[in-house]
Amino acid sequence: MKGVVLAGGTGSRLFPLTKVTNKHLLPVFNKPMIYYPIQTLVDAGFTEILLVTGGKNAGEFLRLLGNGKEFGLHHMNYTYQEREGGIAEALGLAEHFADGQPICVVLGDNLIEYNIRQAAESFKRQGKGARVILKKVPDAQRFGVAEVRGEQVIRIEEKPQVPKSDYAVIGIYFYDGSVFEKIRKLKPSGRGELEITDVNNDYIEEGTLTYEILEGWWTDAGTFESLLRANNFVAQTGANKPTS
Ligand code: G1P
Repeated sequence: MKGVVLAGGTGSRLFPLTKVTNKHLLPVFNKPMIYYPIQTLVDAGFTEILLVTGGKNAGEFLRLLGNGKEFGLHHMNYTYQEREGGIAEALGLAEHFADGQPICVVLGDNLIEYNIRQAAESFKRQGKGARVILKKVPDAQRFGVAEVRGEQVIRIEEKPQVPKSDYAVIGIYFYDGSVFEKIRKLKPSGRGELEITDVNNDYIEEGTLTYEILEGWWTDAGTFESLLRANNFVAQTGANKPTS
């Protein structure tokens, strides 16, 4: 399985912090934000990682990360998103890299307390389809929200005004090779983007999406409040810790 980190977007919710730099280069406690999702993949055993970025600061990622030596990698792969077309559009650029293999996708502004090795193992055993990770949150309307019935996610709604549950779909996804066909079928949403939630709903309709609940803290870092929370979590407990 290969790993993909998505680090594009305008970071408009963090303006003016993102006026002259990419959101994922901002500090979270003692490291640039992008270090955390890369570490998430490395800790789960991934050795082949693609970073998708875009905008005016794309070159800075190469300067910062090089070939990933700091992470114990021999090589880092990069690609460039030419327009702000959304998360699913950015992921579409990973098709050549994935080369038909399953992938784990991590959004560049998502941080977690414990590593996801077990989730990756579960998806390997699953063999096909998709796997998402859910976390109970007090502000579900900010996220993709999963409607769960027993062992099944029956629908995911993107930023619903009235969430059907407290379960946010976190920005770490496992997909089989069919994800790229699914992306090609997508139509832009109301906010003019290709939504990862629509990809996940396609897997739900196919009956191949599984889920698990995340242990430990999770946060995004794309708003002032969540960026502050990310800083505090990392300072207090550290991120990407081994599970006991
Ligand atoms: C994205 C996804 C959303 C997901 C979230 C996790 O939202 O669209 O489904 O719950 O990431 O961080 P964004 O905050 O990028 O708009």
